[in-house]
Amino acid sequence: ESEGKVAMFDRGFLIAGGVYEVSAVINGKLVDYAAHMERLGRSLSELRMGWPCTRAELDTMHHELIRRNDLKEGIIYMQVTRGAADRAFNFPKGETKPTLIAFTQVMNLVNNPNAVTGVKVITTPDLRWSRRDIKTVMLLAPVLGKQAAYEQGAQEGWMVENGHVTEGTSSNAYIVKDGKVITRHLSNEILAGCTRRALMRLAKEEGVEIVERPFTPEEAYAADEAFLTSASQFVMPIVEIDGKRIGGGQPGPVVRKLRELYLKEAGA
Ligand code: PDD
Repeated sequence: ESEGKVAMFDRGFLIAGGVYEVSAVINGKLVDYAAHMERLGRSLSELRMGWPCTRAELDTMHHELIRRNDLKEGIIYMQVTRGAADRAFNFPKGETKPTLIAFTQVMNLVNNPNAVTGVKVITTPDLRWSRRDIKTVMLLAPVLGKQAAYEQGAQEGWMVENGHVTEGTSSNAYIVKDGKVITRHLSNEILAGCTRRALMRLAKEEGVEIVERPFTPEEAYAADEAFLTSASQFVMPIVEIDGKRIGGGQPGPVVRKLRELYLKEAGA
């Protein structure tokens, strides 16, 4: 950590010109890794950035990070930027060498105590740009939303645009009503979560109906259950939104079942 260096002129540093992925590790094994690499490829190509190395080399890097850090449970963060060049808004003339960095973080993912109690969420305006489908390191709007949540005693902010929830500041958002799971459809307005994708498949296999459409905060207040998904939270129950208790303030049966299914699939 102390020896890694990034150039002062790196476009990731100067203009947030970079993309990233966060992959979970359980029992020393990567979770949903193929989906994360697929999304990385898409983020890079949407920004017309090159791969920093081959996919096989990235795979080796991930496995080496787990081995050298003896990581049993936690996450691998990786980031690719367009590289260093004289500062300009337009792309640098000629090829720049992409910058690749990655590190591990130990986390208690499976037995996260929040999953037992459920977490609190507040709503906050969605201040982001219109290409939220690209996983860029340009995270100031989500940072302000997450900070607002923390300052109000909540763990996540659900961002609201035109009266509807888009997603969490670092997670996808779901409510459950009459046994049906409701979550916003994929578009440029939200990030296509890898956990979301895996969960949708598992839910379908289990016969849980999923409706993909936007929902309002008012609909969420009146929901039977609510939850969020992300690589570092998996499937996380929500028990309060804007100070209003959801489902009696306890994680409900649908979210508990979905978390169990996801953990089983992930090798917990
Ligand atoms: N965040 N939406 C946003 C805005 C996110 O930042 C994330 C993930 C997700 C969930 O995607 P996935 O299931 O692929 O993790 C949705 C990561 C965990 C982060 O920034 O730390």
